Amino acid sequence: MFSLKVNGRDVSVAADKKLIDFLRDDLQITSVKSGCDTGVCGTCTILLNGNKVKSCVLKLSQLKNAEIITVEGLSTREKDVYAYCFAQAGAVQCGFCIPGMVISAKSLLDKNLNPTTTEVKKAINGNICRCTGYIKIEKAILMAAQYFRENKSIPADNTEAFLNTDFQRPDAKEKVLGKGKFTDDVTVPGMVYAKALRSKYPRAVVNKIDISKALQHKDCIKILTAKDVPNNKIGHLVQDWDVMIAQGNITRYVGDVLALAAANSKEALDEILALIEVDYTVLEPVTTPQDALRADAPLIHSTGNIMSREHLKRGDVNKAIKESKYVITHKYHTPFNDHAFMEPECAIAMPEGEGGLLLYTGGQSVYDEQREISNMLNIAPEKVHCHSMLVGGGFGGKEDMSVQHLAALMAWYIKTPVKVKFSRQESLDYHTKRHAMDMEFTLACDENGKFTAMRAFIIADTGAYASLGGPVLQRACTHAGGPYNYQNIDILGMSVYTNNVVGGAYRGFGVTQSCFAIENNINLLAEKVGISAWEIRWRNAIKAGEVLPNGQIADENCAMRESLAAVKEIYEKNPYAGIACAFKNSGTGVGLKDIGRCILSVKDNKVYIRTSAACMGQGIATMCVQMVYETTGIAPSLLIHEDPDTVRTPNSGTSTASRQTVVTGEAVRRAAEKLKIELDNGKILRDLEGQDFYGEFSAKTDPMGSKKEFPVSHVSYSYGTQVIVLDEDGKLKQVEAAYDVGTPVNIPSVEGQIEGGIVMGLGFALTEDFIVEGGYPKMKMASLNLMRATMVPPITIKLVQSKGEKSPYAYGAKGVGELCLIPTSPACSHAYYRLDKKFRTSLPLRQTYYKK
Ligand code: FES
Repeated sequence: MFSLKVNGRDVSVAADKKLIDFLRDDLQITSVKSGCDTGVCGTCTILLNGNKVKSCVLKLSQLKNAEIITVEGLSTREKDVYAYCFAQAGAVQCGFCIPGMVISAKSLLDKNLNPTTTEVKKAINGNICRCTGYIKIEKAILMAAQYFRENKSIPADNTEAFLNTDFQRPDAKEKVLGKGKFTDDVTVPGMVYAKALRSKYPRAVVNKIDISKALQHKDCIKILTAKDVPNNKIGHLVQDWDVMIAQGNITRYVGDVLALAAANSKEALDEILALIEVDYTVLEPVTTPQDALRADAPLIHSTGNIMSREHLKRGDVNKAIKESKYVITHKYHTPFNDHAFMEPECAIAMPEGEGGLLLYTGGQSVYDEQREISNMLNIAPEKVHCHSMLVGGGFGGKEDMSVQHLAALMAWYIKTPVKVKFSRQESLDYHTKRHAMDMEFTLACDENGKFTAMRAFIIADTGAYASLGGPVLQRACTHAGGPYNYQNIDILGMSVYTNNVVGGAYRGFGVTQSCFAIENNINLLAEKVGISAWEIRWRNAIKAGEVLPNGQIADENCAMRESLAAVKEIYEKNPYAGIACAFKNSGTGVGLKDIGRCILSVKDNKVYIRTSAACMGQGIATMCVQMVYETTGIAPSLLIHEDPDTVRTPNSGTSTASRQTVVTGEAVRRAAEKLKIELDNGKILRDLEGQDFYGEFSAKTDPMGSKKEFPVSHVSYSYGTQVIVLDEDGKLKQVEAAYDVGTPVNIPSVEGQIEGGIVMGLGFALTEDFIVEGGYPKMKMASLNLMRATMVPPITIKLVQSKGEKSPYAYGAKGVGELCLIPTSPACSHAYYRLDKKFRTSLPLRQTYYKK
C-alpha cells in the first residue's frame, strides 16, 4: 500500500505505478499533463515536498512521506493571481504546458518574490513551451511576483473587446488552472483502450499476420486487420493512405498499421501486440527522392513515385539571366522537422444514436475528421459526430488522421467507448513532418542590384503518403521568388514518394524551405553588387501596385517596405546581424473552395458564437469575440464561443494556410452585422431569444495556371522582415522582427504568435533535426533539442501597416501564424555568414555555437 498526501488530502493505493498515472487516472487530477513520459517536457511538473519534479519519472514506490501540490491545490489567492497574470500577459496559447509552468513559477516565487528575468528563465527551463516562445510566460511570472509582493488586487474582467487591444483571451484562465479539457483528460464510463501494431520495416511484403495467440490474452477484447476496414483508404486530399496494410501487400513506412488491438487496460496493449506474429519478406527501402526517381526504382504507389509536380513560368528567364550583370546559383537542403506540439495525439470514439459514432478529438478540423471517418466506414457523414476538445498545439501536424480513425474503427466494431492515444515516441515516429527539400536556386540582377530573373528546382520528400504534399510543394514554388518585384521566373517542383516518414503540413507550408534558398542567394548577390543585404532588399521589395514574381499585383495594404525600414537601424549597427524577408498567403487560395461560416445564436440573453474553426492555441475564441464586439458592442461577458462540433457549428474549413482570422473572421463579422441591424432597430437580446444570425464568406481566387495576366492567387498576403543578431561567440543576442499583418486583432496574441514562431524558427535553424536513417526515424523527445527558455534572446516586435486601404476582409486583419517563422532560418544563416564568412546551405546550421 502506498500512501501520500495530494493537495492536502490523504490518499493511498495498493499497486505501484507511475506518479503521473496515479494523479491522472486514479485521482482525476488533469492539470498534470502527459506530454512525453520521459522527463523531458515538464508538462507533468508538480511540487513534491516543496520541490518541483516531473511526475512521469517517479514511481509511487520511490516516494516517502510525500506531500504533493498540483495547480488544483494552490490557494485561492494563488489561483487568482496566476490565472490573471498569465491571461493578462498573453502567456497562454494552446495551454498544454501552462499548469506545469505555473508549478515551476510557484516553486520560484515561494522562495524569491523579486526574481530577475534570468532567474525566471532558469526556473522554467525544465518546461518546454512550443507555442509562446517563453517571453510572455516570463512576463506573466514577473507580473505574478509583483502581485504577490505588493498584495495587489485582481482587476475585474474586461468589459470591452475592441480590435487592436490587449483583451484577455476567454480560454486563458481555464487553461492556467488545468480545468480546460484536452481529449486525454476525458474519461467515459466503460471506456477501453486501443493501440496499433506498426510495421517493423519501412518496406516489406506482409506475408501473414497471425493474431490467434494475441486473442488468447486475458485482457484482449478485439483485434482488427485490414479485411475489417470497410474502405481501407484515407487521405486528406489524395486517398492513398492505407488504414491498415493487408496480408500480401507491401508496407510503405514504419508507421504502417498491420493490426489494431483493443484491451480493457492500456497496460495490456503492448503485451497483446507482442503476441501478434507477422511474417515479412523484407525489401530494400527507397530512402531518397533521387533514388525514387530512378527508372529502375520500385513503385511505392501504383500511380508512380512522383506524387505531384508544379511548373511556374513567367517571362523569359534564359534571356533575362543572359543579360544580367550578376548571377548566383546554389544548392540547398532543408531536413524533416517535427512539430513537437506538446499534446500527443488522442481521440475517444463511442457509439451514439442509431448506428452512429461520437468522436472526441483534437485535430485541425472536425469536418475533415467527419469526412475521413465516414468515408472509411462507408456511412453517411451525419452519422459521425465530431466534437473538438482543447487542442494542445498543432502547427499543421494535426491535419491528417493519426488516432481518430483508429478509435472510430474500433468503437464501430465493439460498440464501446475507445481511447487511442499516441505515446510521445509514437507521435514522433508516425505523424507527418515538415518536408525535407533539396533545392537549386539561381537568382540574377543588374548592376544596381535590381533582380531580373530566378530559376528554381525543388524536390520535396513526401515520404510514404501524399498528405498535404501537393499544396506544400505548390506554396514552396509560388513563394519561391520572395516578396520582391521582378517578373522572370521558371520554377519546377516535384514532390516524390519514398519509404520515409510522411511529409505533411507544417507552419510555413513549404515557404519556410524555399525562403531559405532565395534569401541566401540574395545575400551573395548583394556582395557582388557591393551593397548591403538590407539595401538590395530595399531596392527590390514589393510595393503596392507592383507585381509579385507569381504574377499577383500587390494590394494597397502591402507594407513590405515599411517592415524593412523598421529594422534598418538594428541591422546596420550590428556587424553580426543577419536579415531576411518573407511573405505568406492568408487563405487557401488558388481557386480552391475557401469558405468561412458562422452562426450567432441568441439564447438566455447571451450570444453563442458557433464556428468550427479549430483553435490549436492561436486564439480563435478571442478573435471571434473581438469581431462580434467590434461590430455590435455586445459585452464580452455575453459572448460565448462554442467548441467546434459537427452538430452545432457550421463548417469553416481547416485551420490551415493562416486562413481563419481572415476567412472565418470575415464570416463572423458578417453574421454580427446582421445581428447589429436588429440591435440598431431598438431590439435587445431578450427580444431576439432563439434567433440565429448566419454569416458566410467565400474567398474567391484564381486557380493555378490561370490565363489571366495578373491572377489573384490569394485574397491577402502578410509581409515581414527579421533581423537576427549574434554576439562574437555566435550566440543569439537579439531578434528584431517587423511584420505587416494588417489590423492586429489582439496585440498580445499577435505578439505571442510572432514570438513563438520566431523561437520555433530558431529551433529549425539552429538546434533541431529529425534524422531518418534507412527509413527509420531516429529521434527521441530529448534529442529533438527544442529551444528552452534560457536559449531565447530578447525579441522586439514591430507591427507595421501600409498607409493604403486596408484589406476589405475581417476589418483588415491578415494571417500571422505562419509568416512569423519563415524568414528566421535564412536570417540566422546570414548572421553566421557575417560572423565567420562560411556560407551554409543546409539546416540545421552547423559549426555554430549551437551545433557542431
Ligand atoms: Fe505552451 Fe502551447 S502554450 S505549449
